[in-house]
Amino acid sequence: MDTKYMAEPYKIKMVEPIAVTTRTQREEAIRRAGYNTFLLESEDVYIDLLTDSGTNAMSDQQWAGLMQGDESYAGSRNFRNLQKAVRDLFGYKHVLPTHQGRGAENILSQIAIQPGDFVPGNMYFTTTRAHQELNGATFRDIIIEEAHDSTLDHPFKGNIDLAKLQALIDEVGPERIPYICLAVTVNLAGGQPVSMQNMREVYSLAQRYGIAVMFDATRCVENACFIKHREPGYQDKTIPQILQEMCSYSDGCTMSGKKDGLVNIGGFLALNDDDLYQKAASLVVVYEGMPTYGGMAGRDMEAMARGLYESVDYNYIAHRLEQVRYLGDRLAAAGVPIVKPIGGHAVFLDARKFYPHIPQDHFPAQALAANLYLQSGVRSMERGIVSAGRDKNGNHYCPKLELVRLTIPRRVYTYAHLDVVADSIIDLYEERDAAHGLKFVYEAPVLRFFTARFEPMS
Ligand code: F0G
Repeated sequence: MDTKYMAEPYKIKMVEPIAVTTRTQREEAIRRAGYNTFLLESEDVYIDLLTDSGTNAMSDQQWAGLMQGDESYAGSRNFRNLQKAVRDLFGYKHVLPTHQGRGAENILSQIAIQPGDFVPGNMYFTTTRAHQELNGATFRDIIIEEAHDSTLDHPFKGNIDLAKLQALIDEVGPERIPYICLAVTVNLAGGQPVSMQNMREVYSLAQRYGIAVMFDATRCVENACFIKHREPGYQDKTIPQILQEMCSYSDGCTMSGKKDGLVNIGGFLALNDDDLYQKAASLVVVYEGMPTYGGMAGRDMEAMARGLYESVDYNYIAHRLEQVRYLGDRLAAAGVPIVKPIGGHAVFLDARKFYPHIPQDHFPAQALAANLYLQSGVRSMERGIVSAGRDKNGNHYCPKLELVRLTIPRRVYTYAHLDVVADSIIDLYEERDAAHGLKFVYEAPVLRFFTARFEPMS
């Protein structure tokens, strides 16, 4: 294990004070939130690791870009800058801004999916699968088996299993598979990357059957950096070169700019096919806005264009991965069960192993997230049975991975903050036997994890 960690390649120009709370205040706050960390007020949170989505710190260049917003209804210069950034860095032909990633998922699902279709993907993501299902598709998980085992060290745990893909094509026929949804990296597998070789092979198999490959490019820069560090032949390539090659094995992407785009809001749909683009552009008008702003202010498109260029700077992205690895290494060294290898945007606690005495339908990951908040004011997120929701028959989807995600916002926290998080989790692990599960008091029918309320079992 390399115990040296890269220092921040930036300095702090503006600060935002955060809440330091007492145990009594936190007990009250988590009770009010129904033991769901999504429902906490941010004023009650000390270190917020709920998500890396929209929580990035922008650079001075990006803030300066906000002042250069061209807020014309049509033909904004900021759109052209965004289009140029996406073409330069990703290489796709057409770009449609959307208010965030799920806006792009909505448009893509509507234009590509027919009822009865199947969309294979390397593990599901909540909003992505919801849009596919709302349009009548069945999602099929074709990630490699290793991804479901939190203890297995595999450099590219996000890879697609080509045999599973072939089996689905044989089972339902290529005409019922509108596209393969390939996420780079895979959020719910633990932020695990996909290898270049796997992308190349998936694309070649898909092309043989005339099936499109659509990336969920949300964390594509983290994926590119893992390729540089782990895949033979890529050590001397730059991040932009790797990203270009990755995207050459796809026909388009949905993107949440709120992650690797280094902004607080925004996203886009990128496509190479002219006809598909025309269809998408006419739907963007209905759901988002004119094709040259698609739900974003001119200034926000400018910030995203600049953020995309900053995101491919090697020092930035290497440090980002190091911060995540630092937290993971500290926990692993203390014997805390985490998903291995350590991913790109987060460290994932394995709640099944952390609380083996709490059955999955008593929501061990949800309970662990609540306990971590109580312990130190650190907010994390359940990524287990509650996030997975219920199937068409009303039964819980029971994912093999029952996780708590400690998601690191980009350029926001220091190593000292991460020490607070690590110390607090290590304390909780020492007291693990005393923990109890939770039960539902309110459950919404779709994407229940956002609004669910619980109470303690005992
Ligand atoms: N795809 C992936 C892999 C994501 O992680 C997300 C968002 C989206 C798509 C949707 O993008 O939020 O801009 O609409 N993930 C956030 C998270 C919410 O916390 O992991 P969005």
